[in-house]
Amino acid sequence: MLMESQPQKGHGEKEKTLGLLDLSVLGIGAIIGTGILVLTGIVAAEDSGPAIVFSFLIAALASGLIGLCYSELTTSLPNSGSAFYYAWVSIGKFVAFLAGWTLIGVYVTTTATVANGWTGYVQSFLEVLGVNLPHQFLVNPAAGGIINLPAVLMIFLMTIILTRGTSESKVVNNFLVGVKIFIILLFIVVSVRHVNPANWHPFFPYGYGGIFTGASAVFFSFLGFDALATSAEDAKNVEKNIPRAIILCLVISTALYILVSLVMTGVVSYKELNVSEAMSFVLIIKGHKYVAEIVSLGAVLGIMAVVFAFIYAGSNIMKSMSRSAFLPQGLAKTNAKTQSPNRAIWLIGILSAILAGEFDLHYLALIANIGSLVVFALISLIVIILRYRYPELKRPFKVPFGNVIPICSILICIVLLVSISATAWLTYLVWVAVGLIVYFGYSLRHADKFNFSDESGIPKN
Ligand code: ALA
Repeated sequence: MLMESQPQKGHGEKEKTLGLLDLSVLGIGAIIGTGILVLTGIVAAEDSGPAIVFSFLIAALASGLIGLCYSELTTSLPNSGSAFYYAWVSIGKFVAFLAGWTLIGVYVTTTATVANGWTGYVQSFLEVLGVNLPHQFLVNPAAGGIINLPAVLMIFLMTIILTRGTSESKVVNNFLVGVKIFIILLFIVVSVRHVNPANWHPFFPYGYGGIFTGASAVFFSFLGFDALATSAEDAKNVEKNIPRAIILCLVISTALYILVSLVMTGVVSYKELNVSEAMSFVLIIKGHKYVAEIVSLGAVLGIMAVVFAFIYAGSNIMKSMSRSAFLPQGLAKTNAKTQSPNRAIWLIGILSAILAGEFDLHYLALIANIGSLVVFALISLIVIILRYRYPELKRPFKVPFGNVIPICSILICIVLLVSISATAWLTYLVWVAVGLIVYFGYSLRHADKFNFSDESGIPKN
């Protein structure tokens, strides 16, 4: 049986610094980024047309259901290990390792995807100022370049800021989130007067199927709400603040995404939106060149907050796995002054930088989506398993309506997963295969010495 209450602190007692506002800002920092700024126009043009609004609603519904499941787990078992830790408690070490390993892959590929999209905005911003960077240092080898250098440098910059500790980084993050929301609102306010309802006809040019194809792509825009679960150990009043912050972030981002996509497809025909900087593009078409330049600059700054949040989340998972000896324990070592796990932060940063520099954005995004959806389906399943195995566990937040919501959540993850390409699946499976080598070659021997009573007060299974 689980003990009545679990301590909220892990090894190396760390001061809780994040309140509801900080958590919500952290969440929005992770959620709003390349997805809305880069993917919206492309998905509207290729998959959904103006009905991309419904794609966003389906993706938001999926994220909301998953977010509720996350909230039940993270408030019952607050731990920065997230899915890794929940799987350990409810199923066992092997599944726990696979969940944690997948999450590391997800956070690394998401960081790389977002940084990749960022370079496009840097390029377009500088072009207007007459600065042209050499092409071979802007794109990956598959696109005819050598390396996406701006993406690599930006990841290293965020890595360095993070190693100074979350309290100091919070100031930078809050500023960047403010910038991001400002440019999105600016786009909406300036463009809305140009909306011509005729552009919304036909509303469903790709049929109802297009809505689902679009939903599985724009799901990327919501990734990040789960990163909050990894902040559980840094959160004040965790049982209230984490579920509220997750729901708040999803409501705010969904509202902004719906408005942006309605305005965007209302101002110009969806057929014209197949560009990576759709917001600036729409503004320039309507003669707002300076506003477009502000939006590009804001995107350049704001997208950095996403990279920041994902490196932070990735390092938390890595720290948690290392602390329990699934990975070498040296990776969990924290800096005495800042309490930040600098080795884990650097490792996540370096891996992300390599992928961002050398691989394609679309490909990386699909891998991030697969890994996330697999983990989200597992999270939803764990809610059900944990209720059966540990009915007495204190649950400060409980998902309502029995198991209906977790089951719907699993089903919606499966629907989105089956529409992702085989190549991306294959890459994910290769990552899992590498994980199996690490597990059987290292973790199995070392992690065996650990059990829950070491970490959380939960007796060994
Ligand atoms: N949701 C994040 C973004 O859109 C990953 O950039």
